[in-house]
Amino acid sequence: MIRSILLYCRPGFEAELAREISELSTKYGPGEIARTNTGSGYVVYRFTDATSALACAKAVPFASITFARQMIAAFDDVGPLSPGNRVQPVVDAVAEAGHLFSDVFLETADTNEAKQLSPLCRKLAVPFENALRELGLLADASGKPGPDAVRLHVLFTSTDNALPGVSFVNNSSPWPMGIPRLKFPAGAPSRSALKLEEAWYAFLSDQDIAGMLAPGLSAVDLGASPGGWSWQFAGRGMNVTAVDNGRLDPQLLRSGLVRHVRADAFAFVPRQPSYWMVCDVVEQPSRIAKLAAQWITRGWCKVTIFNLKLPMKKRYEEVVRCKDIIASELRSHGIRHQLLIKQLYHDREEVTAYLRRL
Ligand SMILES: C[S@@+](CC[C@H](N)C(=O)[O-])C[C@H]1O[C@@H](n2cnc3c(N)ncnc32)[C@H](O)[C@@H]1O
Repeated sequence: MIRSILLYCRPGFEAELAREISELSTKYGPGEIARTNTGSGYVVYRFTDATSALACAKAVPFASITFARQMIAAFDDVGPLSPGNRVQPVVDAVAEAGHLFSDVFLETADTNEAKQLSPLCRKLAVPFENALRELGLLADASGKPGPDAVRLHVLFTSTDNALPGVSFVNNSSPWPMGIPRLKFPAGAPSRSALKLEEAWYAFLSDQDIAGMLAPGLSAVDLGASPGGWSWQFAGRGMNVTAVDNGRLDPQLLRSGLVRHVRADAFAFVPRQPSYWMVCDVVEQPSRIAKLAAQWITRGWCKVTIFNLKLPMKKRYEEVVRCKDIIASELRSHGIRHQLLIKQLYHDREEVTAYLRRL
């Protein structure tokens, strides 16, 4: 029976995620954290009532959970599994729920120890698909999944224990283990380029990407050096003002789309409004949050993505504090907005925020 919420995270952030899900889930019924081992890369929240977990996984917007890489409504553990019979007991356990799965992901947590189970997952992939298909539980790959479509996840926590569950296709990460497989783009001046690309996938729909990252639109990149984020915008034919006292990649400047301004991000005043402002400056998170909110309230940009470097301690509290700073700044100007803060795969001790004027 589905009774829990299983969330994946960056190992080391289980406590933050546990606090977050405990607060978010109260609306759906009583429950408690069942598993939150530091460094394990996942958290399990168990509801008292059987119907709450599915309702929660469907209704809590995945994009709004800062520390979650994936959100799954989980069955109970299946085990101990014997080496010759690891598939059928799991398939039998999930069959009773009566779902038609759009896909199946066999997964491990994102730790070195857990990833030793990856070869086992690869070996079991086809047997799982066959067993599900035989029972009519796997949908045809063609066709767009409907609004209630669910994917099957099987998290192997050891060679003889599996934790199966379902995620709503429209309210979850589309990537196995919640980890986007992005290739480092040839020619990008820094690895940071991947961070902005991941943020776009995390926060924007396909339609948004087409409309908001289009040639002719403009962006200001605060703390731009050596230029990975500016490179991403320029690669889409957008005009970029790159603000940094540091040097920019000469190749990037040759594109003709990037103007380098040597200035302090906190003192910089744009000549005219731009569509985007992005900021990767390493500074106190509250200072960056305030700066981003001011760019919106002053009408200097419509949308912003910025990085918040978290302190060693009280990381959850810092995220809440930044949310409050932004909300109160925008509220005082009567501006409706959307704010999402997510720890992306390419974020280490940091989170990425997306703020948009509505
Ligand atoms: C993490 S790096 C940015 C990497 C960049 N996003 C990329 O994709 O290549 C941070 C940058 O912020 C710049 N920086 C730090 N404080 C700044 C400030 N007050 N104003 C402008 N730039 C600043 C640093 O010079 C540094 O180049």
